[in-house]
Amino acid sequence: MALRQIVTKEDDVLTKKSREVVKFDDRLAILIDDMIDTLRDSGGVGLAAPQIGILRRVVVIEIDPEQGCLELVNPEIIETHGEQCGLEGCLSLPGEWGIAKRPYKVTVKAFNRNGEEYTVTGEELLARCLCHEIDHLNGVLYDSVAERMLSSSEIEKYNAGELDFADESYVKLED
Ligand code: CO
Repeated sequence: MALRQIVTKEDDVLTKKSREVVKFDDRLAILIDDMIDTLRDSGGVGLAAPQIGILRRVVVIEIDPEQGCLELVNPEIIETHGEQCGLEGCLSLPGEWGIAKRPYKVTVKAFNRNGEEYTVTGEELLARCLCHEIDHLNGVLYDSVAERMLSSSEIEKYNAGELDFADESYVKLED
C-alpha cells in the first residue's frame, strides 16, 4: 500500500491538461493501485491523477466499496442525458462545497489497466463524479463550473447537520 499526497488548489498542476496514457505497463498498474489506496484513505469518492501531481489521464472512483473501484484510463464522455443540480466537493478543495449542475446520466468510454476498452453508464452521484473527475484531467476545478460556492456560514450549518442538500443533489431537472 502506498499513499500519495493529495495536492490542493494552490498547486497549479491542478490547472494543467493531463496527457493520454499510451503504455499500459507496470508503472500504470502501480499508479492505479496507489490512487485506489489514496482514495480509500481520503474518504472521498473519486480521485484523478493530477490530484497527486501526475498529469496522466487516469481516474479512480469508488462510490460503493461492495461494488469495488472503477478504474478509468483515457476516459471520454460519449453521451449525457438530463440534468441534476446539487452539492459537490473535492479532495483538493478541502472544507469547501458548491452547488453544481451536471448531467443526470453520463456514459463514458475508457480503458482498464490492461488496455481493454469498456463503457460505463452512471446516474446521480456516479454521473456527477465522472464529470468532476474528467474535468480534473482537463485542468478544470469544480469551483469554476459551480452555480455557486457555499458561504462559510452555510458550511458551518451543513457540518452541524442543520442544512441538508441531499434532496437537491439528485433533482432530475429534465430527461
Ligand atoms: Co476533485
